[in-house]
Amino acid sequence: MKIHLDEDLSNDNTAKSDFCTDVLKGLKHNPKKLSSKYFYDKQGDKLFQKIMDMPEYYLTNCELDIFKNKSNEITQNLQLENQPFDVIELGSGDATKSKHLLNFLKKNSFDFNYMPIDISGNILHELQKDLATEMPDLTVIPLEGEYFEMLEKVSGISTRKKVVLFLGANIGNMTKKEALQFCAEIRSRLNAGDVLLIGFDLKKNPHIILKAYNDPAGITAAFNLNLLTRINRELDADFNIENFRHYQSYEPDSGACRSFLISLQAQTVNICDEKILFDENELIDMEVSQKYSIEEIAKMGQSAGFHVVENIYDSKKWFVDSIWHVI
Ligand SMILES: C[S@@+](CC[C@H](N)C(=O)[O-])C[C@H]1O[C@@H](n2cnc3c(N)ncnc32)[C@H](O)[C@@H]1O
Repeated sequence: MKIHLDEDLSNDNTAKSDFCTDVLKGLKHNPKKLSSKYFYDKQGDKLFQKIMDMPEYYLTNCELDIFKNKSNEITQNLQLENQPFDVIELGSGDATKSKHLLNFLKKNSFDFNYMPIDISGNILHELQKDLATEMPDLTVIPLEGEYFEMLEKVSGISTRKKVVLFLGANIGNMTKKEALQFCAEIRSRLNAGDVLLIGFDLKKNPHIILKAYNDPAGITAAFNLNLLTRINRELDADFNIENFRHYQSYEPDSGACRSFLISLQAQTVNICDEKILFDENELIDMEVSQKYSIEEIAKMGQSAGFHVVENIYDSKKWFVDSIWHVI
C-alpha cells in the first residue's frame, strides 16, 4: 500500500489542477484539441502496448529491428571512448527497444547508468521491476515527470557524458515547428561530446501509414477514447463515450498523420464545473504522428545546432534512428 505524505498530496493536487487547466484550455480552443501527453494513464499504457503488438503498427518492429540487429553500429557512433556516461531516455515507456542497446552495452562492459524519464509513473514502475530482473547489474534512476523538468533534474545529478535517446518516433507527436524548438531546447541543455539519438518514422506508401493508425480491431480508437474516460474519472466530467468516434487522416505531402475524435451529435459536457458545448460533427484534434524525409531530418538536426553523424535504418528502410552529436 502506498502511504501518502503531505508532499505527495500536494503534487497530486497540482497535477490534477494542471490537467484540468490544460483540458479546458484545449476544449475552448478553436478547433478543439487535447494534449496527447495525457493518453498514458494505466489503461492508456496497456492500450499503447497493444498498439505496439498490432501487425499494422510497423513502427515498433522497424525500430526493434534496428536495436536488435544494429546496437553495435549504434554504439560505434556514440563516441564513447572508454569514459563513463549516462543513458537518458525521454518517454522511455517500457523500453522495449532500448533494452537491446542497454544489454549490448552491459555485455561489452561499458560503465553507464540508465535514467528513464516518463510522465507515466505506472510504466516507470513496471520498467524498474523488469530491469531489476532482466539486468540486475544495471543502475536505473527513474525520473517521473515532463521531459524538460526531468532533464533539469538530470543536470543536477549527472556530470558524465550524456547519451539521450528519444525513440518510438515520439518526436512525430509534435508539429515540425514544435519538433525543431524541442530539439533546440535539448541542444541547449547538452555539452560538447553529448549525443542525441532520435527515432523518426519515414514517409512511405501512404496506405501503409494510414493502416497503422486505422487498425480494424479498433485499438487506436480505444486508445483515443480512453482519454475521455480518464477525463471523466479524474476531472469529474460526464463525456458519453458512445457519442464520439475516432477518425484518422494522412496527408502524404506534408507527412502529417492525424487522429481526431468526432462528436456524433450536438452535446454539452461538464468538466471541472464548466460546460463545454460540442456541435454535431465537431472535431477534437487528438494527436499528430508526423512523418519525415531523410532531408527534413538532416535539416532539423543542423538547424537545432547538432552535427548529424549517422542514420541507422531498419531493413525495410521505413524507419530511421538518427545520431546527432554536440561538438
Ligand atoms: C509513444 S510512447 C513510446 C514509448 C517508447 N519510447 C517506445 O518507443 O516504445 C510515449 C511515451 O512517452 C511518455 N510521454 C509522453 N509525453 C511526455 C512528456 N511530455 N514528458 C514525459 N514523458 C512523456 C508517455 O508516457 C509514453 O510512455
